[in-house]
Amino acid sequence: MNTGKKIPEWFTDARFGMFIHWGLYSMPARHEWFRGSQNVPDEKYRIYFDLFDPDLFQPKLWAAKAKAAGMKYFVITTKHHEGFCLWDTKYTDFKAPNTPCGKDLLREVVDAFRAEGIHVGFYYSLIDWNHPDFTIDCFHPYKNLPPEEKAAANAKRDMAKYRQYMKNQVTELLTNYGKIDILWFDFSYPRDDGNGKGHDDWDSAGLLDLVYGLQPDIIVDNRLDYPNPYALVTPEQYTPAEPVLDEDGNPAVWEGCQTFSGSWGYHRDETSWKTPKMCIQLLIDHVARGGNLLMNVGPTSRGTFDYRAIECLDAYAEWMAGNSRSIYGCGYAPFKEADGCRYTYNAKTNRLYVHVYSWPFHHLHLPEMAGKVKYAQILADGSEITFSENAESCGRTATPKGYLTLHLPDLAPKTPVPVIELFLK
Ligand code: GLC
Repeated sequence: MNTGKKIPEWFTDARFGMFIHWGLYSMPARHEWFRGSQNVPDEKYRIYFDLFDPDLFQPKLWAAKAKAAGMKYFVITTKHHEGFCLWDTKYTDFKAPNTPCGKDLLREVVDAFRAEGIHVGFYYSLIDWNHPDFTIDCFHPYKNLPPEEKAAANAKRDMAKYRQYMKNQVTELLTNYGKIDILWFDFSYPRDDGNGKGHDDWDSAGLLDLVYGLQPDIIVDNRLDYPNPYALVTPEQYTPAEPVLDEDGNPAVWEGCQTFSGSWGYHRDETSWKTPKMCIQLLIDHVARGGNLLMNVGPTSRGTFDYRAIECLDAYAEWMAGNSRSIYGCGYAPFKEADGCRYTYNAKTNRLYVHVYSWPFHHLHLPEMAGKVKYAQILADGSEITFSENAESCGRTATPKGYLTLHLPDLAPKTPVPVIELFLK
């Protein structure tokens, strides 16, 4: 059995991390699933490996962007489904040091982020479309081979060897790079027709034992298809409506992962990039439902962040500079939210944060808050907001009983999401 510990407090205090999806798929720039979804055979995919040369790669710039955006941890794809490894692994030649770039890219990223005081997380793909022993299944690039050919090919593939390969690599990752805070396995897809893969294919129990043995304090995600009471719950591109609960109905520790544009790997031609305001709201929405946000960047094949990603990261930086107090150490607020608002709450300081998504004219009515607030201010500039309780106008009750009414300035502060900080009694 694993000896995993509870998810540490730094993680739920941090609330905000950077996901990084980087691999050979940044060259075709058509989604990180390209090799699998387009059924690209090994010899065709080879061109990317032969030419991969991120000549503009400056991990210190990445780390500086993450830090400025207020991100407290990061999780990087050490290997994605394509099978390419960013580090100098002993167990395959399909690795960054063997491409024209000629180096252990992972080491440089880890060093740069750690130097900024950012916690380190590794994503490791359970799926591997490069490994010769990984059997052809429903997602594999060779899935459309005629059935007899597929069966003959699979007869030569040995998942036991692949399981050992994963253990060897995970051992490298958790031994050679210092303290690793998070391990993000991705992902399981058991299927009744046997065309998927799950915990037996990975030996999830064995992997967990190995991981917790090497790094007892590490956080592991919940994608191993195996019960682990300490697993981090990881909804993907989905913001839950309510706080996420575990099987016993208690609040779960969860982290939503989201993209700037829809795909995780760099996708040049995508048009669905979120606006800076949407990105900021996503962060607030996650914290307001008691979760973390892991926001993804897919660097280009030359090693840079795309200008659209930079635009959003800079927007985070600007907003967080004045408003991070409504994020760090905050979570679900046990109060009914006002119209057009999202709340977060810091239980230690007993402050409630009202994120005003839609700035009303002058009066913002907060249900159930009468009698509970001793002071209110705009968070970003610390300027007082006056308020009244059970307010009346012209002798007639203007709001139902129990409401607290904030008297807002007519002009909304110039920021994508203004925040009012309430000091509760
Ligand atoms: C998925 C995808 C993948 C991405 C990940 C992030 O399961 O397969 O490409 O890395 O989720 O959550």
